[in-house]
Amino acid sequence: MNGPRIRFQDVAVDFPTDRGPMRVLDGVSFDVHEGEFVSIIGPSGCGKTTILNIIGGFLNPSSGQVLLDDRPVAGPGPDRGVIFQEYGVFPWLTVRDNIEFGLKLGASRVAPAERDAVVSRYMGLMGLADFADHFPKHLSGGMRQRLAIARAYAVRPEFLLMDEPFGALDAQTRSAMQDLLLEVLQAEKKTVILITHSVDEAIYLSSRIIVVTARPARIRTIIEVPFGYPRADAVHEHPQFTELRTRIRDLVMHEYQAQANQAVRHSE
Ligand SMILES: Nc1ncnc2c1ncn2[C@@H]1O[C@H](COP(=O)(O)OP(=O)(O)OP(=O)(O)O)[C@@H](O)[C@H]1O
Ligand SMILES: [Mg+2]
Repeated sequence: MNGPRIRFQDVAVDFPTDRGPMRVLDGVSFDVHEGEFVSIIGPSGCGKTTILNIIGGFLNPSSGQVLLDDRPVAGPGPDRGVIFQEYGVFPWLTVRDNIEFGLKLGASRVAPAERDAVVSRYMGLMGLADFADHFPKHLSGGMRQRLAIARAYAVRPEFLLMDEPFGALDAQTRSAMQDLLLEVLQAEKKTVILITHSVDEAIYLSSRIIVVTARPARIRTIIEVPFGYPRADAVHEHPQFTELRTRIRDLVMHEYQAQANQAVRHSE
């Protein structure tokens, strides 16, 4: 497979509202190749989750097309592990059963003998081993988020689609989770799309960063990150890291301002 794994071709999305259709994505085109780590960054409400929902197979574009290995996305599938912005865990299952859930399903099925080992491994990695038999409502927000991450990693999907997966975590845990993700990717090749509001996180983890505009989201610019993998914490101190941070922050701030101005205009 030499072509892109994910291909957006002139994609637009309109959502119906009381005032008529609202354009959320407009002329969005980009490719993601095997093994790439692409972050998407842009103002709140601009259309980032909408982009992920299309790749996930939960939403169809209003025009244009999205191809997964040269075929239009036909619906959700076990090849794509999704970590939703709102914790994607089942409240009626324990921590253990939440992680095990995907391992019992058709295409990502793991033999029962292996399941315990996989579940234990990810509970351990996420610091949830002592909470195996707890239900999500008895976990903190950060722990629920780690559970959602464990669930997605456990089935070893080819694609990881992550919507602000580390947003609810304290700074220490967030940094540990970033490093753990890099480790997982080193061990199991995956193609990743990450939505984040953190410029530092985007630079630290990605091979490319897509900056999108205020709504309707268009591609503002695509930035190649000049660091290879494996990536160590020390890149945070690299002069190019600092330069990139300033450049991306400027771009993002500009779009946040544009989005805020839109909100003011709409309320007038
Ligand atoms: N199913 C839907 N029906 C109608 N409007 C929707 C739907 N999903 C999203 N929207 C609207 O589309 C716009 C973009 O939403 P989206 O969730 O993609 O934003 P986002 O960039 O992920 O924002 P955030 O950073 O706050 O998560 C918002 O104005 C939202 O209200
Ligand atoms: Mg979102």
